[in-house]
Amino acid sequence: MTRLKFAAASLAVLAFVACEAPKSSDNHGESESVSMSESHSDSSHDVKTVVKDDKFTYANYDKVQMTHLDLDLDVDFNRKVLDGTAKIDFKKLDSKATELVLDTKDLTIKSVQIREGGEWKEGTYGLSDADSLMGQALTVLLLDKADQIKIAYQTSPKAEGLQWLSPAQTAGKKHPYLFSQAQAINARTMAPVQDTPAVRITYSAKLRTPPELLALMSADQDPNTPRDGEYSFDMPQPIPPYLLAIAVGDIEFKAINDHIGVYAEKYILDASVEEFSETPLMEDANAELYGPYRWGRYDLIVLPPSFPFGGMENPRLSFLTPTLVAGDKSLTNVVAHELAHSWSGNLVTNANWQDAWLNEGFTSYVENRVMEALYGEERAVMEQALDMEGLKRAVAEAKRPELTHLKMPADLEHPDDAFTSVAYIKGANFLFFLEDRFGREHFDPFLKKYFDAHAFQSVTTEDFITYLHDELHADFPDAVTRAELDAWVYGPGIPATARQPKSDAFEKVSALQSNWLDGQMRAADIPSENWSTHEWLHFINSLPEGLTTAQFKELDKAFSLTGTQNAETAFAWYMQAIRGGYKPAMPELNKFLMSVGRGKFIYRLYGALKASDQTAWANRVYKKARKGYHPIAQRRIDAILND
Ligand code: BES
Ligand code: ZN
Repeated sequence: MTRLKFAAASLAVLAFVACEAPKSSDNHGESESVSMSESHSDSSHDVKTVVKDDKFTYANYDKVQMTHLDLDLDVDFNRKVLDGTAKIDFKKLDSKATELVLDTKDLTIKSVQIREGGEWKEGTYGLSDADSLMGQALTVLLLDKADQIKIAYQTSPKAEGLQWLSPAQTAGKKHPYLFSQAQAINARTMAPVQDTPAVRITYSAKLRTPPELLALMSADQDPNTPRDGEYSFDMPQPIPPYLLAIAVGDIEFKAINDHIGVYAEKYILDASVEEFSETPLMEDANAELYGPYRWGRYDLIVLPPSFPFGGMENPRLSFLTPTLVAGDKSLTNVVAHELAHSWSGNLVTNANWQDAWLNEGFTSYVENRVMEALYGEERAVMEQALDMEGLKRAVAEAKRPELTHLKMPADLEHPDDAFTSVAYIKGANFLFFLEDRFGREHFDPFLKKYFDAHAFQSVTTEDFITYLHDELHADFPDAVTRAELDAWVYGPGIPATARQPKSDAFEKVSALQSNWLDGQMRAADIPSENWSTHEWLHFINSLPEGLTTAQFKELDKAFSLTGTQNAETAFAWYMQAIRGGYKPAMPELNKFLMSVGRGKFIYRLYGALKASDQTAWANRVYKKARKGYHPIAQRRIDAILND
């Protein structure tokens, strides 16, 4: 093995990349950064001009880009590691480039080989010092005519992108389970890659697992593959590395239709198929609005409860939390959301995490359009109204105004910090604003064309705004002003031009709530039998501060809110219980925190416990719950409780 001793100069380059001084955050779109879109490429030479503006990667993707990843890995549950090789194809954008820089984090690199003229040779490489956020740059010297490298490596049991569950942590209790979460920058804890959404790769993989387990990836899946411990995958469409995904466990499959189905542990498979039975209608609605689904199969996998998100849009195989299986299809907007990412996010990708709203805001918008198409305006407006309440709170709580801009500031500390309600809900509301001003008849075809024109490319906020000006605004110059657009994208808070969602159903709920608060009505007499989960959420979230214990008790007695099985309703109620010091809810809250690992719930519950001086209780619960949480959730809650 030849390990390169870096000259001081190249180390300095690595260090510079790691802590590059943030660019001014208020350059109002005048930045010269050029995205990956074809419009900037010189197609005759297939060479693209790329400015490196993702500070969360070490990769020299402006000079050399990986194009294909071929994994050959043992999934070793005893050692809790993936162990094997990664072969990487690449192309030079800069013909003078002499090295390929990859991201790694907590990987053990065993050897690097390089292929030149069909022959494998020992490679020369170096690893930079480990950074707790970024990991280590793996720099491989490129021989003149080299066309592929092969890295033998293994992951670490503490890889943030992988959760290894013991049999006891699964529902079936007999077999272990592994699942990955690569977004935002954890693909590098799974394999050496250029871990930036500005780069796209195709991939193939061979996984060896214990024979009784099934392995799945964000790639083609044959639902009838024999369960024999040897699985092959191919992902022919280029994806950003954050969409690499693996799940291995005692997983079963049931079809919804000929190209949509559900994978889950047996205990929840039938219930999941029933809960998500309307996914084909969602696909139809989405395709009707924005063009065909381009990824082949679309399957869902219902993961163990420690999955830290509601859903993750891994291509061809969305990952979902089991807390969506409420029994009444009330939380399926998350499926609409992950499916919508097949257009916004997976097809057209934010080139940089500062532009996360291009993924999440667009997706939240499309999600709502699909929910409206399937279930009508009333439900869509209720979801908008609940979201808007959340956005107002997030804006009020923002640590600094720049964090409420759609274009996030360049000095973001962690890519996860870009994924707030601002990216999701302010982002979606920007598109509602555009829809209202240009009219659906013009805005819908425009968005469809946008997805088509940028398919399989990564784009920046500025690319979108330019496209909007050229393809829509130019035809209807009076629909919006430049100042209005700037206020949305580069300004703080919620612009005055935002839609005010008004739900008649919510107004009725509010009126009843007032009657109860005024003492004109007993809780037991509130006609709530036909309330949807949304109406319950509105009722609970809008309870005023300062309720007495007697009032909490009255609500609880009338509606059995403590211990309710709908995770969203339970979460909303426990937040109020914590704020109001309503102790009888604590045993059930304890159970909830011990059994649910979904970040959206548990980060805020621990945060609220801390804010209301119940840190000792929170620490006691967390001490027991922590080992069951995903590494991402552990990091986040460690920070919340130690803040
Ligand atoms: N892509 C996100 C999940 C994510 C965000 C993973 C940031 C890692 C870093 C996913 O599409 C998502 O937004 N999930 C939401 C669902 C929702 C808003 C309907 C969730 O998990 O709650
Ligand atoms: Zn999303």
